[in-house]
This record gives sequence, C-alpha cells and structure tokens, in this order.
Amino acid sequence: MSIFGVLTGGGDCPGLNAAIRAVARGLMAEDHDVVGIRDGWRGLADAEMLPLTRRAVAGILPRGGTILGTSGFDPFREESGVEKLLDMSRSLDIEGVVAIGGEGSLGIAHRLYAEHGFPVVGVPKTIDNDLAGTDITIGFDTAVHVCTEAIDRLHTTAESHNRVMVVEVMGRNTGWIAVASGVAGGADVILVPEVPTPIEDVCDHIRGRHDDGRDFSIVVVAEGYPLTRRSGEQEDLVIQDLDRYGYARLGGIGRVVADEITRLTDFETRVTVLGHVQRGGTPTARDRLLATRLGLKAAELAAAGTWGRMAAVRGNEIVDVSLEEAIRARRTVPASWIAAGRVVA
Ligand code: F6P
Repeated sequence: MSIFGVLTGGGDCPGLNAAIRAVARGLMAEDHDVVGIRDGWRGLADAEMLPLTRRAVAGILPRGGTILGTSGFDPFREESGVEKLLDMSRSLDIEGVVAIGGEGSLGIAHRLYAEHGFPVVGVPKTIDNDLAGTDITIGFDTAVHVCTEAIDRLHTTAESHNRVMVVEVMGRNTGWIAVASGVAGGADVILVPEVPTPIEDVCDHIRGRHDDGRDFSIVVVAEGYPLTRRSGEQEDLVIQDLDRYGYARLGGIGRVVADEITRLTDFETRVTVLGHVQRGGTPTARDRLLATRLGLKAAELAAAGTWGRMAAVRGNEIVDVSLEEAIRARRTVPASWIAAGRVVA
C-alpha cells in the first residue's frame, strides 16, 4: 500500500471533481491511500493536503470547480520552489502524483519528471482544448455547451432588434470554443486566431445578409483573434493584464470588433463577453464521462509506476502519451473546421 497525491492546477473547469473522484477511486481499488494536494503545485511545496477517502469524494461528480482548489503556482519560478517541493514529497512518503492540468501545470509536471525524475502522471483539462497529444480535454464540452446556449439566447434579441451581436468567448490563443459554439449556435461570422478574417470581409458579409433581408447578425469572436485588415495590417492582441509570472490575460477584443463594425457599416451593435461563465457550473454528461475515463487511466498508470505519461483520448479510446508530447506544441483548430464554419455561416 502506497500514498499517492492528486492535484488540480491552472484555471478551473467543469469536470475536475469527476476526475479527482475517478483517480481516487481507481487508486483505492488497488488498496492505495490518496491525498488531495491543495491549490495545485503550491500545496505540495507547502505540504497542504487532505485525505481523499471514499467519503471525501462522494457526491462531487456533478460539481463544477475543484474541491482541492487550484493555482498557477510554478515551482520553477519561485525561490527554492523545486527543492522545497521535492523535499516535501519525499518526507511525506508520496509514491507519485497525478496532476490534472493544462499546458502550464503539465509543463511543470514534465520538467519535474524530465529534470528530477519526479514520479508524475498527467490528466488533460482546459476549456481551451489546446493540448497536443489528446483529441479533447476535460471542460471543453461544457464550455461549448454554455457558449452555444448563450448564442441561442442572443439570437432572439438580435432578431427582435435588428442588431449585430458580438459574442466574445475564451480559448486563449486558439479558436476551439469559438468554432465549436459558433457552428453549433449558427453564428454568422466566427473569428479565430488561426485564420484571422479581415474586418472588412466581416462587414461585407453582414451587409450581404442585410441586403438579403436578414437584419441581424451574430459574430462570435475568440479572445485571441487579432484585429486584421485586408491590407494585411494586424493589431496586437487585446490584453487585460499580466499574471504574477508576466503571462498575458486576454480579453476585450469583442468591444474592438463591435466598434469597427459600427464604424464601417453603421449598424447597431452590442457586445457580450461570456468570460468565466464558460468555466463555471455543472459539467455536461460528456465531460463527466471523459473525466472519469481519463482519471481511471491515470490511476492505472500511477499504480503501475508508469511515470512521465498523460492519459489521453485518441478517437474513442483512452490511451497514454508522454508528457513531452502533450506539451510540445499548442493544438490549433484545423483549417477544415474553420472552413466548415464558413460554409454554414
Ligand atoms: O485557460 C483557460 C482560460 O479560461 C482561458 O480561456 C482564458 O484566457 C484564461 O483561462 C483566463 O484566465 P483567468 O482565469 O486567470 O482569468
């Protein structure tokens, strides 16, 4: 019998608790003890943990957020952070850690494993769906569901008032949420970072719709879309602020796009920024299933001592890939998805 730790790092998302529960139950089924590490990698460095008994994980499956708390703490960027974390893990006799995270937290997991032989297994989560090595990440389906519902609601107001409604969604530097919810919600224009449509083309499309007698339009814009002009000129990404390590937090492009549409077409325009609503609330059934399957796979890998891997989805199968592969490159939206969105717009 050994002790394993589980943590959630980076931004929260729906499905984290389902994953925690599956990891804990998978390891308990093999007669191991499991501790929950508080607030991501910080909890390991500071030895802040709680026992994850069967009772502790009962009833958390449908709950959004994470019962463990989360943070963007990076031991590699803190004074003696890595030494502290490694010492603490050894002194607490932790056999290995299951890290449920996105690019940042799993990047830390990979470095700890590659540079220090730290025993860690990853589980992919992020509403952005931008991790390589897996076809889908925990939280994406729920975020798309929330955005699609919002677009449906905005449709009725747009139609009633003959307005252009601009909806800004998250996704950091990729347009997965924008494309998926835009297509599912029947948006008229979808703006993504991967293939940034010039704003003049957007206005032509909206004018064309008006000429056709459709006096409203829905424009979905990913927060990472850079305002682009036909001349090829591109504006910098709109940044809200920087986090403690200097990473940019995006947000605000919706307003910029709406102002440009008003300036170029004179149509009445409104902006909705969905923000953290996309990350909140109860996970969809699909996210719960995904989190459970990935969590069980991670528990299996950890119990077998197969470190440096990440549970992942390939087609309909749950597989494992190296952490290195998972964080090597950002997974962007394929051109075929973007083209499909344009055909149906
Ligand atoms: O990575 C998930 C995400 O929600 C991004 O889509 C968004 O850019 C970012 O996190 C927001 O970060 P924060 O929660 O720190 O505002």
